[in-house]
Amino acid sequence: MIIRVPGDKSLTQRALILSSLAEGESRLSGLLYGGDAASTAGALRALGAEIGELPADGGEVRVRGVGLGGLRTPASVLDLGNSGTGSRLLLGVLAGSGVTATLTGDASLRSRPMRRVTEPLTRMGARFEHLADGERLPITVHGTRPLQGIEWQSPVASAQVKSAILLAGLVGGADATVIEPRQSRDHTERMLRGVGATVDEGPADAGWRVSLAARPDRLDGFDFAVPGDISSAAFPLGWAALGGGGDALTVEHVGLNPTRTAVLDVLRRMGADVDIELDDAGPEPVGAVTVRAGVLRGVDIGGEEVPRLIDELPLLAALAARAEGVTSIRDAEELRAKETDRISAMVDNLRVLGVEVEEHPDGLDVQGTDRPLRGRVESRDDHRIAMAFGVLGAVGSNEIEVDDRAAAGVSFPGFWELLERLAGAPPTA
Ligand code: S3P
Repeated sequence: MIIRVPGDKSLTQRALILSSLAEGESRLSGLLYGGDAASTAGALRALGAEIGELPADGGEVRVRGVGLGGLRTPASVLDLGNSGTGSRLLLGVLAGSGVTATLTGDASLRSRPMRRVTEPLTRMGARFEHLADGERLPITVHGTRPLQGIEWQSPVASAQVKSAILLAGLVGGADATVIEPRQSRDHTERMLRGVGATVDEGPADAGWRVSLAARPDRLDGFDFAVPGDISSAAFPLGWAALGGGGDALTVEHVGLNPTRTAVLDVLRRMGADVDIELDDAGPEPVGAVTVRAGVLRGVDIGGEEVPRLIDELPLLAALAARAEGVTSIRDAEELRAKETDRISAMVDNLRVLGVEVEEHPDGLDVQGTDRPLRGRVESRDDHRIAMAFGVLGAVGSNEIEVDDRAAAGVSFPGFWELLERLAGAPPTA
């Protein structure tokens, strides 16, 4: 069976932000039609960008940007909903904009750490107020133009932190260098090059160094087609790896940026058969991934690959419950700063289902079992926790009730319908 998944969440947000900062019209297609995209588009509209209705079918959206210096003070508080990427990238943009704006979000977003971006942005000259505990939303940013240049050693490998600083440099007219402990997803770097910036990057003593080396004074409108989200594709592919559907499942037209694809390496290591077919290379690699079930075995996941599969770890922990032996996940303390503490959410929920799990500060060990897994799990307002258990519940004789299925809508509208369709489809060869 061949399917497609909704547009990439990371690329959708970046395309919306950069087109809003361009002069003239941009044409975007394939955008995610989900909660996080709607939140970021809403905030950008309040800042003056004209963004057409986001269509459910990935059809074209026209954006009329305001120019790098053209954002206007919004009439009310900007509500970024559940979107960590939208809020952190916009804090960077606003820091260099000369505009004052207050950002907030839902309970999950209001519990997430923001100092990781406000600290470097403060060094660059922006001012922040009203941070609860000095750390969380709601927050008021007083943008400053021009900002001062920065060379920032980020303690976390985070594309959101890196992107906030690079975007602040772009909008605030400042040099910006970020060194991260390991390379995180590089979508912002690729897209900045696409709009005329020079971005240098490479290994550094303390990790991976990225510099905004030359900044354009203005951005022209551009066309951008967003491919499917590999982080969403991972769920049906994981289901296929577990033997759901009997045999092969292909997700076509999906983003295959190498900073995002480590989940496919791990599926292979676990024993699934993974076939990748690259289409013509554009600014972002795109292609088709086919997964055939295998007898899954436990694996070790950690080190350099963690940022390249950080969003897929809930799914991999769920698959591990059905793999032979122990799967050990380490170096993933960042999971505790996601939409919920994903280490504790996976540990608690897997235990509810009778799976043996050991919690570690930076990960977990999951002992696979072939006993049927039954029980009610809590998504904790986290789309990926909900979907990970959706996949596990859709194979064999497992019966898993997910308390809040709607959580999936921020990144994968239609997920449950797709799962039902797949589970009901006859096996393919
Ligand atoms: C994202 C970066 C990652 C990822 C998130 C999207 C992005 O977060 O978990 O889903 O689009 O930049 P961190 O930057 O916090 O690692």
